[in-house]
Amino acid sequence: MKVCLFSLYANSRETEVSEPVQALRWRDAPQGGYLQMIDQTRLPAVFEYLDYDSAETVAEGIRSMVVRGAPAIGVAAAYGVALEAMRLCHIVSDQDFSAALDKGFAKLAASRPTAVNLFWALNRMRACCNQHAGLAKPALAATLLAEAKVIHEEDIRINRTIGEKGAALLPDRARVLTHCNAGALATAGHGTALGVIRSAVLAGKTISVIADETRPFLQGARLTAWEMVQENIPVTLITDNMAGHMMARGEIDAVVVGTDRVAANGDVANKIGTYMVAVLAHRHQIPFYVACPLSTIDMTLASGDLIPIEERAHEEVTGYRDYQWAAHGVAVRNPSFDVTPAELVTAIITEKAVIYRPDAKGMTALFDQG
Ligand code: MRU
Repeated sequence: MKVCLFSLYANSRETEVSEPVQALRWRDAPQGGYLQMIDQTRLPAVFEYLDYDSAETVAEGIRSMVVRGAPAIGVAAAYGVALEAMRLCHIVSDQDFSAALDKGFAKLAASRPTAVNLFWALNRMRACCNQHAGLAKPALAATLLAEAKVIHEEDIRINRTIGEKGAALLPDRARVLTHCNAGALATAGHGTALGVIRSAVLAGKTISVIADETRPFLQGARLTAWEMVQENIPVTLITDNMAGHMMARGEIDAVVVGTDRVAANGDVANKIGTYMVAVLAHRHQIPFYVACPLSTIDMTLASGDLIPIEERAHEEVTGYRDYQWAAHGVAVRNPSFDVTPAELVTAIITEKAVIYRPDAKGMTALFDQG
């Protein structure tokens, strides 16, 4: 069901909290409540929240990219588990309840493969479930909802910390290139890469953003540009193939991106095209920073080659929405992410520490430190 439809190019968007924009929000209701998520497939033309009330509908929201961005996907999945537990409370048998809830977990886990935050959040919800297995079903559902809310709030706090640490790395008057959208829309709030930029601006620095449009889903053109325009942070939109030219002309001082999964050796999976940007940044001796929470780091994978890369629908490449510009029948590839080798990364900015020149040793130390 659709609610809260705001105007086209909604520059006068309503907001309830000091966060720039809330990609997800919980709504209490007499029957227990529901999740709302901004439909990011329609921004910026339409600003609209959609309602979600089960694991299946949340999984579909993730798959169809109503919600996207690694941390936001994790938060959505956590709420998906809580919603499913609430929905299944009427089941009398404990065994049937557990089996049905397991199906909900499985649907959420199958929604998108690359962002590890999805699996991190599901593991955390599973642990919460196991820890409170003895509770009556309504109490268990309430406990799972409380855990989802904690994950949600934690993400905002973590992003603010990442932002502060990252802001210190940007010089005043920096012109910062970013790829895809790692902003408030991609997280519970503040953003990771855009969080660094927001925090630098809050700290009084003059920062301007160069946003890659980010073919084929246009997260840069549609989402990053919109977020920056909302907050009056100067932003210039370029097509993906213009970044090298701008770097060669000395018009970019730093690159800051987010990530969907970092491997144990510091290799970074992010939106397709990030690798190209990193190679160019290296060539032009421009710092290439990756901002992410610890929940995006997957220490179970030795290197980036092992990160599952999602392949999405060919229609995303052959056209946009109802319009097809490529020849019918043409062969297409649509890998949605690529892997930037650690050697091209100047630093990974996390809530705990900034890891310069990341490698297996540095990543292990990050988790070993108290
Ligand atoms: O396909 P998407 O839009 O979910 O991809 C998002 C990205 O690649 C982001 O850069 C990444 O998830 C980090 S979001 C803080």
